[in-house]
Amino acid sequence: MRVLIGVTGSIAAYKAAEVVSLLVKAGAEVSVVMTQHASHLIGEATFRGLTGNEVRVDLFESGTKRPIHIEIATQHDVIAIVPATANVIGKIANGICDDLLTTVVLSSKVPLIVAPAMNEAMYLSTAVQENLAKLRQRGCHIVEPETGWLACGQEGKGRLASSEKIVEIIKEVVRRTLDLKGRKVVVSGGPTLEAIDAVRFISNRSSGKMAVSLAAEASSRGAETVLVTGPISVAYPCSVKVVEVETAQEMRTAILQEWQDVDCLIMAAAVCDFKPRQVFDGKLPRSRGLRLELEPNPDILAEISADKGRRVIVGFAVETEDEIERGKAKLAAKGLDYLMVNNPLAEGAAFGSDTNRGYLIDKHGKVEEIPLMTKRELARKILDKVAAQLSSID
Ligand code: CTP
Repeated sequence: MRVLIGVTGSIAAYKAAEVVSLLVKAGAEVSVVMTQHASHLIGEATFRGLTGNEVRVDLFESGTKRPIHIEIATQHDVIAIVPATANVIGKIANGICDDLLTTVVLSSKVPLIVAPAMNEAMYLSTAVQENLAKLRQRGCHIVEPETGWLACGQEGKGRLASSEKIVEIIKEVVRRTLDLKGRKVVVSGGPTLEAIDAVRFISNRSSGKMAVSLAAEASSRGAETVLVTGPISVAYPCSVKVVEVETAQEMRTAILQEWQDVDCLIMAAAVCDFKPRQVFDGKLPRSRGLRLELEPNPDILAEISADKGRRVIVGFAVETEDEIERGKAKLAAKGLDYLMVNNPLAEGAAFGSDTNRGYLIDKHGKVEEIPLMTKRELARKILDKVAAQLSSID
């Protein structure tokens, strides 16, 4: 395990030494990058002594073949910022890179862990909370600070989490990093669009955010990932093959094309159940009136799960009442391994929201209540289960 610890200018900077020491004891190869501010609070020599490696501070340091930030960004399995100030959190959340640490973070593709430590008012400020929410949604792991005695002489939330907890999370994140390597995961997302005429269509309110989070998480864990998506306005994750479709029929065809070597299918798409029986050429004038006759679309999941084999299949369902009972019935009817059911009328689970909550049901009927969390956190939870099931099948 190769760990990069970023140390920033919080009074808790001295605690980073204990984190580094515990990691070295656990057999990790540890390097440290410090900000200029951190070097006012703790010496480079401490980290050099603990790790046996040079400590870097300066973005313009020479002596490496490639630019130093690229060199460092590609040499580690994980980056952990311990402690993280409001300043560094704000910078990385907004893509600002004006020193070595923030430039390394922006250049790196490995998982990022952020352990904030600051005064309570700063920590609870809207700016910091919004920046943390942004980072969480991008897949960054936030190690919540503790409540206790703070350096400003007050009790409150903002004290750096314990060294043991930070080290545990670093180990956990690394363990997870490549647990889907060699697997192929297909995620469907967004709404489908069913044409009425040349300009009008039937659709639904799906934003595609859940599918994008699932695809980003699967890809970050090493899976060859395909996102089959209806029209959405969320940016696609990089390192993911994207297949854009419009109709349910096109989505079915695209998924079937990938199907042979798929290890896991996650159907997060809100597939339109019906489509107009007839699509009019051109634009229908209003004066002609409109009576729509609909016919059913294929149930992609039900059809495809008949040929499930050893694949893991996950569905999503929206229910506005009796979520658990209806969810269990749907999971059985569609032959799924897991079904995430949510109620869009519940707070934080509305269409288009960055968060979700509800119930994750498995094929044995076990129901796990999912408290309010970001879609990326939910994606991580679902893929933990998928990875565990896939490795138990091997
Ligand atoms: N689904 C599908 N094909 C369809 C409709 C739904 O593959 N034509 C998938 C969705 O992607 C989702 C799961 O089935 O993963 C459940 O979707 P939902 O709309 O809740 O299921 P329906 O069978 O359409 O049930 P309902 O009558 O409640 O709409």
